[in-house]
Amino acid sequence: MIQINDKSFDVFIQESEITSKILEISATINSEYKDKELIFIAILNGAFMFASDMMKNISIPCEISFVKVSSYEGMSTSGRVDELIGLNTSIENKHVIILEDIVDTGITIDKIRTLLMIENPASLKVCTLLYKPSAFAGKHQPEIVGFSIPNKFVVGYGLDYDEKGRNLKEIYQIKENNN
Ligand code: IMP
Ligand code: MG
Repeated sequence: MIQINDKSFDVFIQESEITSKILEISATINSEYKDKELIFIAILNGAFMFASDMMKNISIPCEISFVKVSSYEGMSTSGRVDELIGLNTSIENKHVIILEDIVDTGITIDKIRTLLMIENPASLKVCTLLYKPSAFAGKHQPEIVGFSIPNKFVVGYGLDYDEKGRNLKEIYQIKENNN
C-alpha cells in the first residue's frame, strides 16, 4: 500500500503486466502499419511513460509528437475553446495513432480527435493504456486498449493524483475505505 496526500492506494497492475501488454500492442501496430506513413501523437502529461515504453518496441519507421490540450475562455458565447499545443508537424495524409494514458468519460479524447481531424490525416486511431468503459460517455470508443478497468481512481505510470505519483512503475488503484 502507498499513501499520496490524503488517499491510500494498492498495486493494481504490476510492471511486468504493463510490459507484456506493451509488447502485444506494439507488435500489432508494427504489422498493421508496416507500409504506412505513421505518426504517434502522445498526450502530455499523463502519456509520457506509456509513449516512451511503446516507442522502444515500435520497429517500423515512424514519427512522434507530444501535445497538450489547453482550454481557454474564447470570444464566442459558447464559452471555452479547446486548442492543441505543440503539434508543430503536419499530419496531413499521415496515419495517426494518439497515445493516451487513460480514457475515462472520453470527453478529452473526443476533443482531441475533433481537433486532429481538421488537419486531414489519412487515418486516426486512439491507443490508450487504460479504459474505463463504465465511465465512458464519448462518441467513439478507443480502438486500441491495453486494459479495461473498473471506474475507480488510479495513479502511477504517468497518471497522477494532484500531480503526484506519475513516477511509479506500477499502476495503483484507490482503496475502498478512502472516502
Ligand atoms: P476523460 O474523462 O476521459 O476526459 O479524462 C480526462 C483526464 O482525466 C485523463 O486524460 C486523465 O488525465 C484524467 N483521469 C481520468 N481518470 C483518471 C484516473 O483514474 N487517474 C488519474 N487521472 C485520471
Ligand atoms: Mg491524460
